[in-house]
Amino acid sequence: MDCNIALTGFMGSGKTSVGKELKKLLPDLELIDLDSYIEAMTGTSIPDIFSSEGEDAFRNMEKMALQDIFDTNEMLGTNSILALGGGTVLTDACRRMVRRSCKCFYLRASLETLVSNLKEEAGNRPLLKSGKDLRSTVKGLMELRGPVYESAAHYVIDIDGKTPTEIAVDIVTSL
Ligand code: S3P
Repeated sequence: MDCNIALTGFMGSGKTSVGKELKKLLPDLELIDLDSYIEAMTGTSIPDIFSSEGEDAFRNMEKMALQDIFDTNEMLGTNSILALGGGTVLTDACRRMVRRSCKCFYLRASLETLVSNLKEEAGNRPLLKSGKDLRSTVKGLMELRGPVYESAAHYVIDIDGKTPTEIAVDIVTSL
């Protein structure tokens, strides 16, 4: 593989799990989870970054982290599988970098799939702690974000009812 692969999509669409399956199929690529990269870079958890510095500061960290990853890859002549955060491509500069430097896959899920995947783990996602019910929060955010994910992606993969392994195979087949 001579390009980076980026996974985008809403929280709970399985970007991290699909990234791990992709790594098994494409072992030469380094797997980077952008949230974990930022946590390592700052020594702070994502919920703590949101509560102490706010969302804008976090979006800026995503931009710096992506720039850092692409600069390093270019310097070393390496490529990565990048599991992006659910909001990364909402930042124009991030979306442009991803479009330019990656083949970007949107893991598109129905509202039902997202809500069911997020039920157990919404507590770790600062943007889902609004006090409103989970379904209406996800629905509202997806109405705004769906078109952005589509515009960021080179390929759209519908993931309802598929396992991470099946999705990874779909991605490799499209490359
Ligand atoms: C966010 C998604 C999260 C994390 C942060 C913000 C978002 O990543 O980056 O909580 O704006 O959708 P995951 O999609 O991996 O949960």
